[in-house]
Amino acid sequence: MSLRVPGPGDEAAARAAHAELAPDGFRFLLTPELTWAEQLDRLHLDSRGVDLRRGQVPADFLIADVAGDVVGRVSVRHTLTPLLLDLGGHVGYAVRPAYRGRGYASQMLRLSLERLAALGVSPALVTCDEDNAASRKVIERCGGRLQDVRAVAPGVPGKRRYWIELG
Ligand SMILES: CC(C)(COP(=O)(O)OP(=O)(O)OC[C@H]1O[C@@H](n2cnc3c(N)ncnc32)[C@H](O)[C@@H]1OP(=O)(O)O)[C@@H](O)C(=O)NCCC(=O)NCCS
Repeated sequence: MSLRVPGPGDEAAARAAHAELAPDGFRFLLTPELTWAEQLDRLHLDSRGVDLRRGQVPADFLIADVAGDVVGRVSVRHTLTPLLLDLGGHVGYAVRPAYRGRGYASQMLRLSLERLAALGVSPALVTCDEDNAASRKVIERCGGRLQDVRAVAPGVPGKRRYWIELG
């Protein structure tokens, strides 16, 4: 597996992944309403921290590629805002339903942590919903130490917050 920047040839797979992940409440594409070329430009600016929207931090949007197949994606956030510190953490990830249960999310998180270490981040914060058993397993397998479970809102699962020492 490699994590790579999306390119012109990834549009069909990325839009398909976006539709497949909607039932999980996960946005594969951050700005699906833009043309593909506009999205690629936006991601390039996001990774360099240029012209960010309010509350955004510099972040890499990377596709998880296994032998040419787009199996998922990660967002690697270079810093934390108060909201990310509370709930979102440094890394967001999702695996397309057809590719789950093969260890891909664990590999994606490991590679994302390498990217954060290269940026000088340590420890990294990774979070998941209290009822997301698969994600919990992924984070704990990558060395996550549970700090706490934060309440989000009434009737909404709490957020498990883990720190992972890097380097
Ligand atoms: C969470 C997610 C990324 C996991 O992807 P994945 O590639 O299947 O993960 P992995 O194969 O690396 O590991 C998942 C582990 O959880 C286990 N698992 C899966 N569903 C489970 C469940 N309902 N209960 C308990 N364990 C479960 C798997 O068996 C596997 O453990 P194993 O390797 O010991 O068998 C994927 O389900 C997903 O994209 N979900 C929607 C988006 C999301 O929730 N993202 C995370 C946001 S924090």
